This record gives sequence, structure tokens and C-alpha cells, in this order.
Amino acid sequence: MEKFEEISQTEALSKYKHYKHAAHAMLAADDPGTTFGCKRNAVIMMQMRFDGCIGFVGGLIDPEDDNPVDGLNRECVEEIALDLDKVKFEKENFLLCHIVHDYKLVLHFYGKKIPLKLFYEIEKRAVLEAEEWGNETLGLIRVPLSLFEQGDINKRFKAFLKHNFAGNAKRQLLTGMKMINVVPEDYRTYSNKGFIGQLV
Ligand code: GTP
Ligand code: MN
Ligand code: MN
Ligand code: MN
Ligand code: MN
Ligand code: MN
Repeated sequence: MEKFEEISQTEALSKYKHYKHAAHAMLAADDPGTTFGCKRNAVIMMQMRFDGCIGFVGGLIDPEDDNPVDGLNRECVEEIALDLDKVKFEKENFLLCHIVHDYKLVLHFYGKKIPLKLFYEIEKRAVLEAEEWGNETLGLIRVPLSLFEQGDINKRFKAFLKHNFAGNAKRQLLTGMKMINVVPEDYRTYSNKGFIGQLV
């Protein structure tokens, strides 16, 4: 299996210019709702990809893109018709960078928290307007982030993590959701103790 190593973005962009670069992103919103009596912590957007795997929106950086974040915004327009006047990724939204030497591939990962109402608008617009809808993007998914039930990690989230994920999207999800603060403190303690490690 291919190996994803964490690398600093600066090093990846200077030393590994000759590799392919891709940028993907997590859009999230705090969500105070409940599903069948179980509290939702937040909503996180992922997608069903054309290849049957679950991943984040984004894609390969093309020669016309000035940098990863420009490429990411362009891919977001293609895949979900993101309205960049309302939501645009910035350099500051960078979270993680991984390198896969076997594939000569660098994966940049970004994340941003937005208001819930805007999150819903993005979903609707994707279905109606995105040029890649039904092609690269087969559907948007709200990750079932009802994290706890009776003090134990929720089986809905565990079940979700058993799907097939593109690249290291699962690791990006588990790390990114902590980095952008869409999980409660008790979940951090829980996952830092290694419980979540058993799921990966
Ligand atoms: P084309 O427009 O067809 O070129 O695709 P794309 O530019 O949208 O590229 P894609 O999103 O497929 O991403 C490029 C590479 O990144 C793929 O080879 C995947 O293995 C990997 N990849 C795709 N989605 C994710 C993701 O969510 N996370 C990570 N880490 N890698 C991903
Ligand atoms: Mn694409
Ligand atoms: Mn893509
Ligand atoms: Mn592309
Ligand atoms: Mn494309
Ligand atoms: Mn499914």
C-alpha cells in the first residue's frame, strides 16, 4: 500500500516541484441539530467520487494555477459550483500536507468553517449548477458526526469510516475535524488516547 508521509508545505513546494500536486478541502459548519435523538456536533462536506470512493472536493493543480489554493478554488467551482464571492479558500486555511513518493504526488489539505445556512446553499447550488455534477462528483455527503452516544463513540461515525476513501482522505477527515474545531473537547481526549486509532 502507498505510504503517506506528512511534510511541511514549504518543503513540498520547493523540493518537490517536479511531483504532481493536488489540493482538497473540508467545508464544515457547527450544527446544533439532532438525528433520532442523537446530537449532531457539526456537518462536514465530503463527496461520492466518480471512482466510487469518498473524498473531499478538490483536485490536481494544473499549470494555469498560480498555487495550490488557486487550484483548489478552481476545482471547487468545477465540482460544486462554489460561489467564490461567498466562500473562497485562502492560504490561511491550510491544514496538512502529505507526500507519496511511490506516486510522486503531494496532497495539500485545507479546511474552513462556515455558517450552516451557507453550507446548505452550497449543497443546493452544487446539484443545480456544478459542471462536474454527475461526472466527477456523484453526490455530496454530510459526514454523520453524531460523535457520542451514552458515553461511547457513535456507531454511525464508526460505520461511516468503513467506507472506501480516496488517498488519505480518512486521515485528513480525522485530523482536520480537530484542527478546525468542529469536535467537542471530550472527543479530542477520547481520540488522543488512541481509541480512534483502532478505526483507521
Ligand atoms: P481530474 O479533473 O479528472 O484531473 O481530477 P481532479 O483534478 O479532480 O483530481 P482528484 O480529485 O481525483 O485528485 C487527484 C488525486 O488525489 C487522486 O489521484 C486521488 O488519489 C487523490 N485524492 C482524491 N480525493 C482525495 C481526498 O479527498 N483526499 C486525498 N488525500 N487525496 C485525494
Ligand atoms: Mn476535479
Ligand atoms: Mn477532484
Ligand atoms: Mn482537475
Ligand atoms: Mn476535472
Ligand atoms: Mn454508502
